[in-house]
Amino acid sequence: MMFPFFLLFVPLLFIAPARCVDWTSTPFNPPAFPLAVRSPYLSAWLPSGNGTSLNGAWAQFWTGQTLGWAGFVNVDGKSYCFLGTPGVPDATFSQATQKSANFTSTQSTFVLAAGSVDITVRFLSPVEPSDFTKQSMPFSYMAISAVATDGSSHSVQVYSDISAEWVSGNLSLIANWTTTIEDVLTHQVQLETPAPFTEIDDRAQYGSAYYSTTNQASGLTYQTGEDTVVRAQFINNSKLANTLDTNYRAISNNWPVSSSYAHDLGTVSNSETTPIVIGVGFSRDPAIEYIIADDVLQNRSSYFLSAFSSPLDAMTSFLQDYDAALERAYTLDAQVNSDASAISTDYAGLVALSIRQLLGGIEITLSKNSDGSFNTSDVLVFLKEISSDGNVNTVDVIFPAFPGLLYLNPQLVKLLLQGLFEYQATGQYPNKYSCHDLGSSYPVANGHNAGTDEAMPVEESGNMVIMALGYALKSGDNSQLSQFEDLLDQWTQFLITDSLIPNNQLSTDDFAGSLANQTNLAIKGIVGIKAMSKIAELLGDSSKSSNYSSIASSYVSQWQSLATSSSGNHLTLNYGNDSSWSLSYNMYADKLLQLDVFPESVYTMQTEWYKTVDATFGVPLDTRHTYTKSDWQILTAGIMTDTSVRDMFIEADVKFASSGMSSQPFADWYDTVTGDAETFRARPVVGAHQMIQQSLAQAQVTLPRPHLPRHHHHPAQRTMPL
Ligand SMILES: *[C@@H]1O[C@H](CO)[C@@H](O)[C@H](O)[C@H]1NC(C)=O
Ligand SMILES: *[C@@H]1O[C@H](CO)[C@@H](O)[C@H](O)[C@H]1NC(C)=O
Ligand SMILES: *[C@@H]1O[C@H](CO)[C@@H](O)[C@H](O)[C@H]1NC(C)=O
Ligand SMILES: *[C@@H]1O[C@H](CO)[C@@H](O)[C@H](O)[C@H]1NC(C)=O
Ligand SMILES: *[C@@H]1O[C@H](CO)[C@@H](O)[C@H](O)[C@H]1NC(C)=O
Ligand SMILES: *[C@@H]1O[C@H](CO)[C@@H](O)[C@H](O)[C@H]1NC(C)=O
Ligand SMILES: *[C@@H]1O[C@H](CO)[C@@H](O)[C@H](O)[C@H]1NC(C)=O
Ligand SMILES: *[C@@H]1O[C@H](CO)[C@@H](O)[C@H](O)[C@H]1NC(C)=O
Ligand SMILES: *[C@@H]1O[C@H](CO)[C@@H](O)[C@H](O)[C@H]1NC(C)=O
Ligand SMILES: *[C@@H]1O[C@H](CO)[C@@H](O)[C@H](O)[C@H]1NC(C)=O
Repeated sequence: MMFPFFLLFVPLLFIAPARCVDWTSTPFNPPAFPLAVRSPYLSAWLPSGNGTSLNGAWAQFWTGQTLGWAGFVNVDGKSYCFLGTPGVPDATFSQATQKSANFTSTQSTFVLAAGSVDITVRFLSPVEPSDFTKQSMPFSYMAISAVATDGSSHSVQVYSDISAEWVSGNLSLIANWTTTIEDVLTHQVQLETPAPFTEIDDRAQYGSAYYSTTNQASGLTYQTGEDTVVRAQFINNSKLANTLDTNYRAISNNWPVSSSYAHDLGTVSNSETTPIVIGVGFSRDPAIEYIIADDVLQNRSSYFLSAFSSPLDAMTSFLQDYDAALERAYTLDAQVNSDASAISTDYAGLVALSIRQLLGGIEITLSKNSDGSFNTSDVLVFLKEISSDGNVNTVDVIFPAFPGLLYLNPQLVKLLLQGLFEYQATGQYPNKYSCHDLGSSYPVANGHNAGTDEAMPVEESGNMVIMALGYALKSGDNSQLSQFEDLLDQWTQFLITDSLIPNNQLSTDDFAGSLANQTNLAIKGIVGIKAMSKIAELLGDSSKSSNYSSIASSYVSQWQSLATSSSGNHLTLNYGNDSSWSLSYNMYADKLLQLDVFPESVYTMQTEWYKTVDATFGVPLDTRHTYTKSDWQILTAGIMTDTSVRDMFIEADVKFASSGMSSQPFADWYDTVTGDAETFRARPVVGAHQMIQQSLAQAQVTLPRPHLPRHHHHPAQRTMPL
C-alpha cells in the first residue's frame, strides 16, 4: 500500500497542467471525495474539482445541496477552521492549511496544519459486503487526531457540528431535535412532519439524522442552538455550554445546528493523539415499499434493525466498533488495491474511488412477519438509479453495478435480482420481456402492472439471464436459476425471436435515442441465449441446452455478416451503416461467463479499431456523439486483446476523473473531446470499473487453481476471500 511519491504528480503534470493544488493528493485529485457515503440518502461529498481543500467548500449531498458540517480546532486558544466554510461574524478564527488528501476504497483522509499542530481528519465509510448488519447501517465515521509539529506542547480542542440541512430537500420545513446522553452522546434531528416514502430533490422526507460521539473523554461538551452562536461559543471558550435549544423551527430559520460537540484533547505533543471519533448517519424506517402478490404493498426495513432495538442503539454499537472497523477497512483497502494494482496503478485509483459510490446506491432490507418480528429469511437488496431518473432496481443499472458487487459479495447480486424475479413471478407484469425497473421513484418499488415502464426489451431480458448465470457461476448456487427457470426461459424465447434483428428500441444508453438493428443490442441478446443454454445445462436439461447453444452459434454467424462494416475492420453501430461504430461493451459478458460464443477474431478486430478512434478523454460511445460512458469504457477495456489498448481505456477514465473538469461525485457520462461531465453523477454503475478484477476473480471459481502469469485475459490467482 505504499504509493511512490512521484506518482502523486503524474496527473497534475501530464493531464491538467492548468491545475494548481498546493497539497499532495493521492492517488489523484478526484472530482469529489466521498466523506460519508453509505446509502442513497447518506451521501456527503467534498466537491473537489481543480482542488478544493476540506475547509474550501461545504460538504454536499450528491445533488450539490449544502450539508452543513463545520469543524474548528483551537490550539492554545487560537481557532482554526478545518471543515466547511462557516461564517462566524462575532468571533475571530483562521483557516487551517491543507497539507495532504488521499482516498482508498473505504476512506478519505485529510491532513491540515493549524499553527504548530497538524490534525488528521479521516472519513471512513465502511465497506462490509459480507456482513449485512454492518453493511446496511447508514452510518459513517469521522475520526480526528492531532500531533504537534514544532517539538513543543500545545493545548488542543476540537469542535464539529452538523446542521438540520441533513434532513430535508426543503429548508423551509420545520425540524425538531433531541440529545441523548449515555455511553454515547447522540444528537438526533428529523422533520416535524415527515412524509414517508417521499423525496424532495432526491432527499428523503422522513427519517432521522444522527450525530454521535463516545462519552468517555472527560472534556466532552455539547450544545444545540443557532449556528453562529454555538460556533462562536467554541471559538471564544474552547468548550460548549452543554445547553439545548428547544425552539424547534425551520431548517433555515436562524440555522439551528442541532448537533455539536467539543472534545478536549488536552496537551498535544509530538506523538499523535488517539483519534476522537464521531458517527454521522441518516436512517429511515420503513426503508422501502415493495409490491408483492395481489398488488399489496409491503413495508421493508433496513437489515441492521433486526439486530438492534433502535437506530440509536445501532449507532452506539457502530461507534464502539471503530477500531475494529478501521482494521477491517485497511484489510479491504489492501486487498482491493493489490488486486487492482495487478492491472495498473491508474486502475487501482479508479477502483478505489468507485467502491463507496457503488455501495452508496444500495440498501439491504427485510420484511416483517405479521407479529411485527423480522423475517430474516426474506432479504432483498434495492438499488437507486441515482441522478438519471431515481428508478428502483433498474435492470440496466444493476448490470454495470454487477461486476463490482460480484467481486465484493455475489449474494448482493442474487438479492438485487430476487425482487425483480419475485415481482415478475407474481404474474402482475404483463410484458413477455423483462421489466426495466421495480418502480419509477425510489424508495417506492410498486412495480409496473400496466407494463408502461421504460421499455428496453432486449437489453433487460439479456441482462437478467446474464446476471442470474453470473451469480450462479460465481457462487455455485443454482437455486435462483431453478426457482425462476420459467421466467428465464420466457425471456430467452423473447431473445430468440427479437434479438438477431432488434426492432427500433432503446438500449441502456437511452439518452442517445432509439435505433433499429443495434449491433451491441444483438450481442446482448445472443450472449443471453447462450447464457440460457448454460443455465439449462446446470439445471440438467441437456436437449434445451444444446438447442439454445446451436441457436446462439447460428445467430453469431448471421450477425457477423450483418454487423461488420463492408471494410471489414470494425463492427457497426447499426446494421448496414458502414461508417458507424460503437463501443461493443456487451461482449464483456461473453468473456465474463466464459461462454466464448463470439469468435476471437471479433475481439481482435475491435481492439485494432479502437486504437484508431481514441479522443482526448477516451473513445466515444458511438459515432452519433462525442460523449462516452466510463463504465462501458472499462467493460470494453476488459475484452481488449492487447494490454496497451486496455490501458488506453483505463487511462481515459482516470484522465477524466483527475482533470478537474467536474466537481461532482464521479460522472460516468462525459465528453471525450472537452472532458465535460454530462448530467449523470454518483451512480452505482461505477461497479463496472471493477470488471477487469472481476474477470480474474471469476476465473478462479470456475477453473482448477491455476498457476498462470497474471494477465488480464488469463485466469489469475487472486480473488477476495469473501
Ligand atoms: C478547472 O479549471 C479548468 C481550467 O481553468 C476549468 O475549465 C474547469 O471548469 C475547472 N473545473 C471546475 C470544476 O470548476
Ligand atoms: C493517507 O493519509 C494519511 C494521513 O497522512 C496516512 O496516514 C495514510 O497512510 C495515507 N494513505 C494513503 C493510502 O496514502
Ligand atoms: C417547502 O416547504 C414550504 C413550507 O411548508 C412550502 O410552502 C413549499 O411549497 C415547500 N416547497 C417544496 C418544493 O416542497
Ligand atoms: C419530532 O417530530 C417527530 C415527528 O413528528 C415526533 O415523533 C417527535 O416526537 C418530535 N420530537 C420532539 C422532541 O418534539
Ligand atoms: C465571542 O467573542 C466576541 C468578541 O471577541 C464577542 O463579540 C461574542 O459575543 C462572543 N460570543 C460568544 C458566544 O461567546
Ligand atoms: C407502512 O409504513 C407506512 C409509513 O410508516 C405506514 O403509514 C403504513 O401503515 C405501513 N403499512 C403497513 C402495512 O404496515
Ligand atoms: C419469510 O420469507 C420467506 C422468503 O420470502 C417466505 O418464504 C416465508 O413465507 C416468510 N415467512 C413468513 C412467516 O411470512
Ligand atoms: C434491420 O436489418 C435487417 C437485416 O439487414 C433488414 O432487413 C431490416 O430492414 C433492418 N431494419 C431497419 C429498420 O433498418
Ligand atoms: C429450440 O428452441 C426453439 C425456441 O424455443 C424452438 O422453437 C425449437 O422447437 C427448439 N428445437 C428443438 C429441437 O427443441
Ligand atoms: C448511421 O450512423 C450515424 C452515426 O455515425 C447516424 O447519425 C445515422 O443516423 C445512422 N444512419 C442510419 C440510417 O441509421
